[in-house]
Amino acid sequence: MDKENRDCGEKRISALPQIGFGTYPHKEALLEAIPVVISCGCTLLDTSDNYDNEEWVGKAIASAKRDELIICSKFSQPYRALEFNKCFEESLAKLGKIDMYLLHWPYPHLWKKLWVMMEELYLAGKVSAIGVCNFDVTNLKELLSFCRVKPCVNQLECHPLFQQKEITDYCRENDICVMSYSPLARMNDALMESDVIKELSGKYGVSASQIVLRWDIEHGFIPIPASAKEKHIVDNMGCLNFSLAEDEVAKIDGLEEGLRIRFDPKTRFTSREKRKFLIRRIRLAIGI
Ligand SMILES: NC(=O)c1ccc[n+]([C@@H]2O[C@H](COP(=O)([O-])OP(=O)(O)OC[C@H]3O[C@@H](n4cnc5c(N)ncnc54)[C@H](OP(=O)(O)O)[C@@H]3O)[C@@H](O)[C@H]2O)c1
Repeated sequence: MDKENRDCGEKRISALPQIGFGTYPHKEALLEAIPVVISCGCTLLDTSDNYDNEEWVGKAIASAKRDELIICSKFSQPYRALEFNKCFEESLAKLGKIDMYLLHWPYPHLWKKLWVMMEELYLAGKVSAIGVCNFDVTNLKELLSFCRVKPCVNQLECHPLFQQKEITDYCRENDICVMSYSPLARMNDALMESDVIKELSGKYGVSASQIVLRWDIEHGFIPIPASAKEKHIVDNMGCLNFSLAEDEVAKIDGLEEGLRIRFDPKTRFTSREKRKFLIRRIRLAIGI
C-alpha cells in the first residue's frame, strides 16, 4: 500500500489528549480513582489484559459518559496468539469499550503476525486506533516497511532520567505519537529531588510531579501517570495549567542518566512467558 495513503488510527479519535491515566497496579481502588480522573477532565485511561484490572476499569466507567472517554488496552498474551480475537473479545467484555488497542511488547518471532491481526481489528472497525508499546527503532522500521495501518502510538518508558531520544525522534519524524509510561520514574529521588526540578517547582509554585509531567507535554509526549490517591491525581492533572520555557525544558533534558526503571523490551520475553507459550501450544495441539 502507498505509504502516504496508509491509515493512521488516530484520525478516528478526534484528538488525543495531552495527558492520560495509568491504571496499573490498581484494581478495586479504581472505582473511586477513575471518577476523580474524569472530573479533572482526563479522558484517556490506560490498561492491559495482564494488569488484572480491566473488570474494575469497566465497572468504574459504566456510569460515566463513555463516548467521551478513550479506553486503551493491550494484547499481552503471546502464548495465546492463536486466540488473538478471543483475547480481544474477553478484554472488550470486561471493559465495555476499547478505543485504542496496543501490542504490549515486540514479542520475538510473533509480533509481525500479531500486528496483522491488530490491523484486521482496526479495518473491521472494532477499534478506533491501534498502536504498539516498547518498540525500538529497528522494530518500528520493520513495522513501517510492511504495515497496512500505521501505529497511532508507541507507548514506552520515558522520563527525564531515561528519554529514549533515538526512538522518540524517530516517532516524531514518522507521526507516531509517544505515550510515556512510568513518566514520574516512579518518583525516583534522582529525578524528584534534583536541583533542576526543585528550582522549577519553586519558580512556578507547583509540585515536582507537575514539572516532570509538563516536560512530557512540552515535548509532545502523552504521559500516563498512575495513582489511586485523589490528592496525587488532582496534583498530576495540574500540569495542564502552566507551561515551561524552552530553556527550562532543555535543563530538564540535561537530567538524562540512561536509568531504565522498568523492563528492557529486549529481555522482556522471559523464560516464564516462553514456558507458558509452549504449554499453550502443546495444549492446543492435543486439544485440552
Ligand atoms: N506499556 C507498558 O509496557 C507499561 C509498563 C509500565 C507501565 N505502564 C503504564 O504506565 C502507567 C504509569 O507507570 P508507573 O505506574 O510505572 O509509574 P509512574 O506513574 O511514574 O509512578 C507511579 C508512582 O508514583 C506515585 N505518584 C503518582 N503521582 C504522584 C504525585 N503527584 N505525588 C507523589 N507520588 C505520586 C504513585 O504513588 P501513589 O499510588 O501513592 O500515588 C506510584 O507509586 C501504569 O499505570 C501503566 O498504565 C505501561
